[in-house]
Amino acid sequence: MDPRVLLFTGKGGVGKTTAAAATATLAASKGMKTLVVSTDTAHSLADALAVEPGEVAPGLHLHQVDTQRTLERHWGELQDYARGVLSELGLDEVTSEEITVLPGAEEIIALLELREHARSGRWDVIVVDCAPTAETLRLLALPEALDWHVNRLLPVGRRLVRLVAPFVRGVARVSAPGEEVMSAGERFHRGLMEVRELLTGDQASVRLVLTPESVVLAEARRTLTSLNLYGYRVDGVIANRVFPPGGADEWRAQWVAAQTRLLAEAEQSFAPLPVHVVPYLPAEPVGTQALTEVGERLYGESDPFAPPASPPPLRMSADELALDLPGADRAEVDLARKGDELIVTAGPYRRILALPVALARRKISGAVLRDGVLRVAFSPGSESGS
Ligand SMILES: Nc1ncnc2c1ncn2[C@@H]1O[C@H](COP(=O)(O)OP(=O)(O)O)[C@@H](O)[C@H]1O
Ligand SMILES: [Mg+2]
Repeated sequence: MDPRVLLFTGKGGVGKTTAAAATATLAASKGMKTLVVSTDTAHSLADALAVEPGEVAPGLHLHQVDTQRTLERHWGELQDYARGVLSELGLDEVTSEEITVLPGAEEIIALLELREHARSGRWDVIVVDCAPTAETLRLLALPEALDWHVNRLLPVGRRLVRLVAPFVRGVARVSAPGEEVMSAGERFHRGLMEVRELLTGDQASVRLVLTPESVVLAEARRTLTSLNLYGYRVDGVIANRVFPPGGADEWRAQWVAAQTRLLAEAEQSFAPLPVHVVPYLPAEPVGTQALTEVGERLYGESDPFAPPASPPPLRMSADELALDLPGADRAEVDLARKGDELIVTAGPYRRILALPVALARRKISGAVLRDGVLRVAFSPGSESGS
């Protein structure tokens, strides 16, 4: 049984770490074996919990990725992989020294460790405090796209090998094709695919944390659209630092009014997702006691650890592909077909989808974006042109 995986993301400073830590302490207090990890390199989980990493409360384990150590452990694989991808893109002359700063590398590595934890069978619940704006979750769609290209380009058995050509060429000459030929880069690629499978799987969901401010809300809406585009289930929104009504002064009254308006807007934008409200507390919620209280207020009567109830954002049948794109505007959604691939663009985000054989044989007969769902209809008859 896979552990329940809960990811928390949102703009910087809105309360991701607090919400993640509160959810984890709540899980542990209910007797679930809980692991809380941060993929954000600014480690503040330990500060929020006011503890050192390790077993921080009964049933609650805080894991802090030792970036230096894990970077050393995975660096070779990572460089190999990057070099392979770059050469695939025709940038052969990029030298390994130039691949010292890969965007998101540290977070990716933290996610690879996460996969090892998920497999271990030790945890009922894994809570992940993600870096801001879900950048890395989007990055994880990259191997999906690459995998497709590589699988199509190469005969079975040689599949991922060419992707990491510079390294593999040497190895392949001396060993027979098979598992043992799997290069470091290939292992890394597989690892990324598995992380993605885990995070888009039936037991995983993302919670968007925001504060009731217009800029934050706008960004949260875009994040919701892009997470859906890339196949992640979002199962809740957390509105944090909400001023409780009351008090007589003008300053307070104005904030309460503005936040009330924005909360109503959020409810509307994110429906049918629940919007959980956390009040602006009189003090920073630090330590397991304070965090458990936040957790209890946060979810009220609902069960935050139940498997996600909603279907996956991407659904395919024999003649239709449906993709949830909540909040997307018709003007910014674009669809292109290239052979067996469907390229879906929503604003600045793009996903390359491999069509299953049944759909790939058919031609697109129509597409509509209605009520936040993109529906692409396929009809018999092969695609002519593109
Ligand atoms: N509801 C709240 N009331 C009061 N302080 C809060 C609340 N939520 C978070 N904080 C405090 O705000 C700061 C930022 O929260 P944090 O969870 O670290 O944000 P993020 O991880 O999104 O950057 C922390 O000092 C935290 O203790
Ligand atoms: Mg944080």
